[in-house]
Amino acid sequence: MPTPSIVILDFGSQYTQLIARRIREQNVFSAVLPCTAKIDEIHALNPVGIVLSGGPCSVYDADAPPADPAILDLGLPVLGICYGLQFIAHHLGGRVRSAEKREYGHAEVELVDGVNPLFAELPASLQVWMSHGDEALDLPPGFHLTAKTANAVAGMADPDRRIWAVQFHPEVHHTPLGTQVLRNFLFNICGATPDWTPEHFIQATVAAIREKIGRGHAICALSGGVDSSVAAVLVHRAIGDQLTCVFVNNGVLRKDEFEKVQRNLRDKLGLKLVAVDASKRFLLKLRGVTDPEGKRKIIGNEFIAVFDDEAVRIAELGGGVEWLVQGTLYPDVIESSSVKGPSQTIKSHHNVGGLPDEMQLKLIEPLRDLFKDEVRRIGRDLGMPEEILQRQPFPGPGLAVRIVGEVTSERVALLQQADDIVVSEIKAAGLYTKIWQSFAVLLPVKSVGVMGDQRTYAYTCAIRAVHSEDGMTADWVPLPYEVLKTMSSRIVNEVRGINRVVYDITSKPPGTIEWE
Ligand code: XMP
Repeated sequence: MPTPSIVILDFGSQYTQLIARRIREQNVFSAVLPCTAKIDEIHALNPVGIVLSGGPCSVYDADAPPADPAILDLGLPVLGICYGLQFIAHHLGGRVRSAEKREYGHAEVELVDGVNPLFAELPASLQVWMSHGDEALDLPPGFHLTAKTANAVAGMADPDRRIWAVQFHPEVHHTPLGTQVLRNFLFNICGATPDWTPEHFIQATVAAIREKIGRGHAICALSGGVDSSVAAVLVHRAIGDQLTCVFVNNGVLRKDEFEKVQRNLRDKLGLKLVAVDASKRFLLKLRGVTDPEGKRKIIGNEFIAVFDDEAVRIAELGGGVEWLVQGTLYPDVIESSSVKGPSQTIKSHHNVGGLPDEMQLKLIEPLRDLFKDEVRRIGRDLGMPEEILQRQPFPGPGLAVRIVGEVTSERVALLQQADDIVVSEIKAAGLYTKIWQSFAVLLPVKSVGVMGDQRTYAYTCAIRAVHSEDGMTADWVPLPYEVLKTMSSRIVNEVRGINRVVYDITSKPPGTIEWE
């Protein structure tokens, strides 16, 4: 039987994943399904309760998500949030209308039902976050009002049917006591047990991998980043040296990274690691290419070719390989099953480990149920070094998308030095783990400078530092003046070939994080 869970049905809210994370922070497993999920799919997750998320539509819209109202009759406790409340009101005989006054932002809610278990241990008045255009006008038969704002219904319940609903968002931090609302739902109403812990996850996952792979062999492409490393360590814990990891130097890694990753993964973590220095092969293919997507495609394809060669070699040596380990995370899984339409491709993000189809490997994705912060927690419990767990994201095509224009070994070397200075100064200032990404970009712009009494004519480098939650949007970081000053003077003094440093003060949107 799968771990008992709370199933969240996604009606398209930007906060749906946050609901899942908040529930998991209470050590209760939660899974997101599209609101159109079949009843069987919901049951397959062994749910002890269901949450209906918010969403951008109105229940009256022609394109309102077509969820099956039977989800309200499964006998499981239901919590509707925002659109979830309106969905319940609409389908159980209440009335929803477009609000005269749209509520968006901070609001104060009065809790009017003293015995409501959803509001246990909460004060009579609550600061909350609202974001809705519609509101419930008449409650469905059997429901009573549990909370209200000055203008509208803020909560309703029918305890006999085990259905609760709130118009506000308990999952966002602008609702400071929202966690208590979720805890009340989990523990008072659903009777969930808080036993979904890192130890439990590791134990269950290791046992499942061992059972699945048996005496077979697996390979894994490592990038040096958090996800592939944690995935590899988990699988290694299950099957030991039946797992071989492959780490490829694609010629556009950061300074000393090829050696550092080997030290961390082979020497510190004991993984069986094949390190392939294919930098020449990649740089040859990149010669003369300036188009960002062209660079991505070349690096993606070349990676698959190198990995494929290695996999064949490993299979010949070890008597066959049947499994490929990948560090896929839960947001990708949700994204690919989402009800939302495809968004426009701004950049094609090739990650390492594209599956060589003709090898017909079966996939092992030990992290496909986890969010990034959970992967770090698991990694910590597995005893992995913070250096790996706290590493800022680094794109698969590496420095190639941070060298605007042609990628040459000379330019790679320049950027490696400048980037190393940026990262080490960010670390020295204690900012590395507080910033989503911080790095240098090499521009194909030469300008005149003066050093000593000498004229110089050399490249420009841009410094980029951004705060972000998930890479989808980002704000540029106002780095302390002293940090910028040290970086700038170190780069110009220490990197021969760069004589000018600029600071990128563009957020995303309208910029992107990487320059290419
Ligand atoms: P952008 O530049 O699109 O970046 O704002 C968003 C996040 O994605 C990373 N990124 C990539 N990661 N392959 C990757 O594996 C890629 O081609 C790629 N391009 C961008 C970027 O570093 C940031 O974290």
